Amino acid sequence: MDIGSISLSKNDVVRKCIGILGIRGSGKSNTAKILIEELVKERVPVTVIDPDGEYIDEISNFNGIVVNDFSKDPISLAIEHHKKMSTVDIDMSEWTEESFKFLAKYLEALWEISRFVGVDRTIVVEEAHEFIPQGKVTELSDAIVRIALRGRKRGLGLVIVSQRSAKVNKDALSESEIYFLHKVVHPADLKVYKEILPMKPKEVEEIVPKLKTGEALFYYNGEVKQIKIRKFEIPILTSLKQFETVQI
Ligand SMILES: Nc1ncnc2c1ncn2[C@@H]1O[C@H](COP(=O)(O)OP(=O)(O)OP(=O)(O)O)[C@@H](O)[C@H]1O
Ligand SMILES: [Mg+2]
Repeated sequence: MDIGSISLSKNDVVRKCIGILGIRGSGKSNTAKILIEELVKERVPVTVIDPDGEYIDEISNFNGIVVNDFSKDPISLAIEHHKKMSTVDIDMSEWTEESFKFLAKYLEALWEISRFVGVDRTIVVEEAHEFIPQGKVTELSDAIVRIALRGRKRGLGLVIVSQRSAKVNKDALSESEIYFLHKVVHPADLKVYKEILPMKPKEVEEIVPKLKTGEALFYYNGEVKQIKIRKFEIPILTSLKQFETVQI
């Protein structure tokens, strides 16, 4: 899997909990899109919990399904999607109570069906502090935290994306075996990074606030590397650009 200045194998990523943290505009969603693209290439279906509808174009481009009609039966949909190995965008941008209830039931059904259907799936939770806040339990947060804690055996991985690392459920976040730590500056966020990284606190303070957009400290297997993630481009745009180059 081509992430940018590093490559990963499918097995590095599936069935894992992955944390992508950083301030606004530091490149978190771009990093998540690169992971999704590489997983889809490896035929691993992905479910994105998408609070801003920011992944709809990408998921549609990967022949995925966009779910935005929350009057449908979440249980039969989840079973159908998982059996067919569909990649799915759950468009939560309307932020209704109905959509939150739907999502909780959908993820509970996915959890149940994953016992019987032996395929891997990675669930990406954008703005994770909204869905799995620290110190607050809901039906939905329960469903997501369960996947973080016990998903591996059922083939389920979780990607936690957040700009408010201190406000994300710690039980879930601390399950992460891989971290992409983009720029943060606030002492509360730097503290979270210092707890995660096997580095001297002073070093964290010196390096992390200077990271540029798309750069991150990548932490995996006890090793920290400063990396640059490649910029995500929707494949059709990429081919159009190649076409333009040929024309010139
Ligand atoms: N690796 C990268 N290389 C080049 N440009 C990038 C990279 N990562 C992100 N960008 C650009 O920087 C901008 C912000 O990126 P992105 O939306 O991923 O940030 P974010 O951390 O998710 O921000 P937010 O907290 O607002 O959601 C975008 O225009 C994106 O295209
Ligand atoms: Mg984002």
